[in-house]
Amino acid sequence: MKILKVKDYEQLSEIAADLIAKQIKEKPTSVLGLATGSSPVGTYQKLAAMKLDFSNVLTFNLDEYCGLSNDNPQSYYFFMMENLFKHINIPKGNTHFPSENNCDKYDDQIARAGRVDLQLLGIGSNGHIGFNEPDQVFHNKTRVVELAQSTIEANARFFEKPGDVPKTAISMGIGTIMAAKKIILVADADKFDIIQKMMNPVVSPQLPASILHYHPDCTIIYVTTS
Ligand code: F6R
Repeated sequence: MKILKVKDYEQLSEIAADLIAKQIKEKPTSVLGLATGSSPVGTYQKLAAMKLDFSNVLTFNLDEYCGLSNDNPQSYYFFMMENLFKHINIPKGNTHFPSENNCDKYDDQIARAGRVDLQLLGIGSNGHIGFNEPDQVFHNKTRVVELAQSTIEANARFFEKPGDVPKTAISMGIGTIMAAKKIILVADADKFDIIQKMMNPVVSPQLPASILHYHPDCTIIYVTTS
């Protein structure tokens, strides 16, 4: 695991965007795994400003809420359109999102695309990646998941009323994420504590991100306050 400590969100976003740009330049048909939430917003802004050719890139998003339509501003589909896709030349048909209808087929679809070349991840304060919450076991496949109470509370900042926050989502599994050829995890200063815990090389499904210790090409970029 490669660790890059950076001074602020700006630098974090710049490094992550540069790594993704390098991947696309080296392989214009790259398959990207993409995250949503506040962590990757700066990365997507910088990436969009680079005016790269995304016409042959395929994307697979990590997760999506259950029960929100694509035109709901809180859906991850809407997030991706606003924060990245409408600013780049990616054909709509090249972008993929898990849904309740396709979750059984999502992993096969990714495998048929030749596996994810580069997976971008954020991390939850409880150590989740995608929406793989702390549990007794690691779950491999894309599936419907119950969100942890702490995740529901953290996500509430994006919704008008607490009652609007979805309690379930569809998430790529840990196996799906680990099958990516390269992984980049970005964490702003608010994730400092969980990143410290994750550095402890004890791998446990109670801290899902700890599995990344077993990935052969994983870079953690995090903002350090010290
Ligand atoms: C979102 C995702 C989640 C987030 C995590 C951190 O697609 O997979 O694991 O990365 O919940 O969210 P933020 O960045 O909003 O703190």
